[in-house]
Amino acid sequence: MEKTWWKETVFYEIYMPSYKDSNGDGFSDFKGLTSKLDYIENLGIKGVWLTPFLKSPKVDNGYDVSDYYAIDPTYGTMDDFKTFLKQAHKRKVKVIMDLVVNHTSTESKWFQEAKKSKDNPYRDYYIWKDNPNNWESFFGGSAWEFDSLTNQYYYHKFDVKMADLNWGNPKVVEEIQGVLRFWLDLGVDGFRLDVINFLTTEGITSDNPTDEKGEQEHLYDINQKGVKEAMKIIRETVNEFDNRFIVGEIGSDKIEVLKQYQGTELLDVVFNFNFGSIPEFSAQRIFKELQSMESNMSNYPTLFFGSHDMPRLINRLAKNNPERAESLAALTLTAKGIPFIYYGEEIGMENIEADSMEEIKDIQGRTHYNLAIKKGEYIEEALRIGNEHNRDKSRSPMQWDNTQFAGFSEVLPWIKVHENYTHLNVLSSEKQENSLLNNYKKLITLRNSEPVFQYGKYTELAFSDNSISFTRIFNGKKIKCYFNFSENSLEIKLKENEKVLLGALTIKPNKYLMVKSVKN
Ligand code: GLC
Repeated sequence: MEKTWWKETVFYEIYMPSYKDSNGDGFSDFKGLTSKLDYIENLGIKGVWLTPFLKSPKVDNGYDVSDYYAIDPTYGTMDDFKTFLKQAHKRKVKVIMDLVVNHTSTESKWFQEAKKSKDNPYRDYYIWKDNPNNWESFFGGSAWEFDSLTNQYYYHKFDVKMADLNWGNPKVVEEIQGVLRFWLDLGVDGFRLDVINFLTTEGITSDNPTDEKGEQEHLYDINQKGVKEAMKIIRETVNEFDNRFIVGEIGSDKIEVLKQYQGTELLDVVFNFNFGSIPEFSAQRIFKELQSMESNMSNYPTLFFGSHDMPRLINRLAKNNPERAESLAALTLTAKGIPFIYYGEEIGMENIEADSMEEIKDIQGRTHYNLAIKKGEYIEEALRIGNEHNRDKSRSPMQWDNTQFAGFSEVLPWIKVHENYTHLNVLSSEKQENSLLNNYKKLITLRNSEPVFQYGKYTELAFSDNSISFTRIFNGKKIKCYFNFSENSLEIKLKENEKVLLGALTIKPNKYLMVKSVKN
């Protein structure tokens, strides 16, 4: 088993606008982040994933980049970023950046040039057609926007202000290689590649079919033939630098599709949303996904139950059930794979709900609201639809303490703070011995100190009566983990050579136990 830093790392996703504001503008920034590095280090985190922080009009909070070589002024200056990186590295915390190369903002210089005329040198950086096909945007509505200056349509898989790059154009590939080298040279430790199986490498092919529910099946617009080749080039470029890591966001619910993008020439790991974004709790489903990752993913899987694109873990999987939340944390930190914790998860932060359209800042939520209004829905119904698609739910400001605005900012934040911040915050959690936060710390410390959890194979992965159990083994050392999600207590008898690492032998419902085999 090859030793690599990322197999030993617990990652922490920071949603850029929502972590810590230092300059009183209601948005988080690099100075704020730097001031929280001690907290991150103390939690045992060895890698942070920062959502996009490059210059952007922020139609989609930075997933719409307008300049790949500049820091967005909301988050500070290039020097602020460099200080953050240096301070993170000083604490042995690696930094991976979210890189969006499927599309750019329409405000980017490339697009501004491209739209000027059909023979502009940047025209083919994007995808233009006289007649659009039926492809739909992932945010809703058509994926084509008419541009009256040149009488052609441009293609956008997401918002109309996010135009898709033409990966069939070698110049685009070279540009992106330049971007990768620039940030790697500055010292970033790797990338989270946004919607990376969505790259348009083969241009516009056939119309997409429609399923029985009348919804479009994204058959031809994603996973195009050239995607793997593009990934290989990205990998090769990243490999010009030592020890860097790539995690890919692969939009697909098919494990066969996910697994083909993992490998030494491709991506180190990919997110599996079949596991990560299960909509409601089911021990059996979690087990099934663990099993499917074990039999399908030659390399390492990833383990997570939250991100900026889905409702929070607590609301989906452990509402009013702190013990289950803790057990899910324990599972993510001991099962085989690379754990990713979404900021705030460690204290049990919950979803926020929008009460009016003004409160829905998320572009996907807004698009669905507007489409509903266009269809003639009443405002209440449009708001319900908008809220259903609103990803802001899990993006509220980090709850640091019980002062106004949760210690996140001194002014009204860009998005509302969850009202439970007065009792649910980092400061109060640190003081309660048995808080979720303190248990996360314990579990992360355990994972960091046991190579079995970082490198161990499964010798057993089992499910019975709503309990999941597995044994992991590495270099002759064995740890067995039990997660009791049934309604009854589970009694475990220790063998002579076993000792309890964490938990109790009578595993109460929603509790866990870890047992280590020791040599006599
Ligand atoms: C990814 C991001 C999401 C963004 C989309 C378009 O799915 O996680 O937040 O809206 O890509 O860039």
